[in-house]
Amino acid sequence: MDGNGRWASRRFLPRVAGHKQGVDVLRRFVKACAARGVGVLTVFAFSSENWQRPADEVSGLMDLLAIALSREVPQLKADGVALHFVGERARLSPKVAAGMARAQAETAGNTRLVLNVCFNYGGRWDIAQAAAKVAAQGLVMTEANLDAAMALAHVPPPDLIIRTGGEQRLSNFLLWQAAYAELYFSDKLWPEFDDAALDAAIEEFHSRERRYGKTSQQLEPQSKQPSAA
Ligand code: IPE
Ligand code: MG
Repeated sequence: MDGNGRWASRRFLPRVAGHKQGVDVLRRFVKACAARGVGVLTVFAFSSENWQRPADEVSGLMDLLAIALSREVPQLKADGVALHFVGERARLSPKVAAGMARAQAETAGNTRLVLNVCFNYGGRWDIAQAAAKVAAQGLVMTEANLDAAMALAHVPPPDLIIRTGGEQRLSNFLLWQAAYAELYFSDKLWPEFDDAALDAAIEEFHSRERRYGKTSQQLEPQSKQPSAA
């Protein structure tokens, strides 16, 4: 969800105002995804590297999270959204960590949409913590064992990754899980990413051919293949 700061600066507003707008857009976006049958939505809200931002922006983001935790859960419950927080909890304030745990527990039974909020998250952190877990269990370091130890093991890998704000990089998001994701880069800033922008991304996704290492010919339906009999 990139571009909140620029959205605010263009309006001569403080960066935190852009993040606030970003939360409003996310609220709508979750509904739009659920309406389109998306089963899992994973958003990058705060990276392991975002601690390096000015202290007032970091505390503004923490405050926004605390406010969202206290305000958004009833609607998420009503909409059938199961909330998950993904990332390192250790550095977060006890209030925020407790709020996360409560929100997660209160929405755990919901099945319409899984909303993973990556907060104090980094793709490298996830790979390293999974490897530590596998080692501590005395298991062999296989792909399957690592996969099962990932912080995102409760959902399948993403089909589509959307990055807003014009940059064309992953910035430490879903490094392990992105192996076969379709990447979509939008010049729109996150606070401008509306339903039409989501539909454009989904339409582009459907135009891609996902070969997973195979040839195009191998993907053709069996009926089109010359019969061997
Ligand atoms: C939001 O956008 C990403 C977060 C860390 C919350 P940015 O804050 O990176 O916005 P820009 O890139 O400065 O416009
Ligand atoms: Mg940015």
